Amino acid sequence: MGIAVSPQIHPQVADFIEKPRKMLINGNWVSAASGKTFPTYNPATGEVLAQVAEGDREDIEQAVKAARKAFDHGPWRKMTASERGRLIWKLADLLEAHTEEFGYIESLDNGKPLGIAKAADVPLAADLFRYMAGWATKIEGNTIPISVPYTPGAKYLAYTLREPVGVVGQIIPWNFPLLMAAWKLGPALATGCTVVLKPAEQTPLSALRLGELIMEAGFPEGVVNIVPGYGETAGAALAAHPDVDKVAFTGSTEVGKLIVHAAAGNLKKVSLELGGKSPNVVFKDADLDAAIPGSASAIFFNHGQCCCAGSRLYVEKSIYDRVVEGVAEQARKIRLGSGLDPETQMGPLVSKEQLDRVCGYLEAGFSEGAKAITGGHQSGNKGYFVEPTVLVNTQENMKVVKEEIFGPVVAAMPFSDPEEILPRANDSTYGLAAAVWTRDINKAHRVAEQLRAGTVWINCYNIFDAALPFGGYKQSGWGREMGHDVLNLYTQTKAVCANLAA
Ligand code: NAI
Ligand code: MG
Repeated sequence: MGIAVSPQIHPQVADFIEKPRKMLINGNWVSAASGKTFPTYNPATGEVLAQVAEGDREDIEQAVKAARKAFDHGPWRKMTASERGRLIWKLADLLEAHTEEFGYIESLDNGKPLGIAKAADVPLAADLFRYMAGWATKIEGNTIPISVPYTPGAKYLAYTLREPVGVVGQIIPWNFPLLMAAWKLGPALATGCTVVLKPAEQTPLSALRLGELIMEAGFPEGVVNIVPGYGETAGAALAAHPDVDKVAFTGSTEVGKLIVHAAAGNLKKVSLELGGKSPNVVFKDADLDAAIPGSASAIFFNHGQCCCAGSRLYVEKSIYDRVVEGVAEQARKIRLGSGLDPETQMGPLVSKEQLDRVCGYLEAGFSEGAKAITGGHQSGNKGYFVEPTVLVNTQENMKVVKEEIFGPVVAAMPFSDPEEILPRANDSTYGLAAAVWTRDINKAHRVAEQLRAGTVWINCYNIFDAALPFGGYKQSGWGREMGHDVLNLYTQTKAVCANLAA
């Protein structure tokens, strides 16, 4: 077991992945009740990277029990908001101090380039925790003047309290393993909830290492429980659990619908961040020196494994050839390789399953008449690499245009004028993100208003910030993560009304 640990690998990470990793329940690192473990793979080689405790129904049961106890009876609820905020801030400091180590874990488990994990994933996660730490002391209710027409002359004091929703189940994907853990844990902790987190089976390692830092920071036992395992078993048990008050999920729209069904048993609150097929619209008056590399990175960033990837590239006719050829040129220059190789610009896809899925889409595209002007195939025969691909001759009704591919594959299509493009851009079951490139500021804001998407970028793409809400219209999800919007997902409002009769 284990890859040959080359001297390249950070020594602490080599230690971390050497022994089977356990799960975090009630402040203790424990094996699965069944004793089972499952392998996580290095997607650059396809070899086993580490063994991890395989959580299942029984482990979820124990973790929910711990989270319930921590919420109902533990010191957590007695802490002041300031103390909670300080713990979250401390976690951010610890995470930042271990940037190098988390970069390696993320690169090895997910495949992304080490430099990107260190420059983006880890600092964004630390920043999210700091942003949420600040919110802990700013979650306020209102005082509300009420009139009560049927009690003339009476006087009331009415106000609202915003209370944590309770025990939260959080199920996250593999594309940004650490960052997705931060997006979920940050607001839950800021609001005073307790958590059972299930990382993706493809990438459980960074969440487990984060669990160690959570304990080191001093969070009370049971506040955060981390149960790695498969979706159909551990994930499904968490989503259906009657003692879980809320479930937050990021992943496929297909599983999002299963979560909604599973949540119906106790009508737990649900928030969902699901798939996308985001339109990236380039007008002829755009600054092409920015729009071309911007459109390339809109799709190729994180190997296209972004729910908001700019996977439908719409270009105004007169500049279509130039932009599409420019994006293809960028694609050809991207150096594929192991995430640990400093020369690498794009790593492998996360798993064999995703490799097969993306190649299946490419085949479907070709059989429907699409043509790749660059890429179009798996790269090499070791690891899960796919060539950055630009598809042309694509039509709106093709699978590669309609469905989320979640790989480095963009479908390019020309359009003739703004009136024509808006209905086409909006013709999707998804509505996560969109972008528009133009120098005409009036057009930019008009189009932004009419795009049915939770995020619209103007002359940029993939700009994220802890302060900026993110989430989907239509089947891209329910609720908004980050920003102050997310606090609504983790709190509930209590109206208090006092009779001030003398
Ligand atoms: P998935 O939706 O199956 O997995 C995401 C998470 O849900 C994982 O933690 C998984 O263990 C869990 N899960 C799976 N089945 C579950 C169930 N029945 N109950 C509870 N939890 C469950 O996504 P998968 O299979 O990894 O990828 C398939 C496609 O989903 C991708 O090709 C992509 O299109 C989309 N996807 C979208 C993501 C996003 O950020 N919106 C992230 C990952 C995948
Ligand atoms: Mg799945």
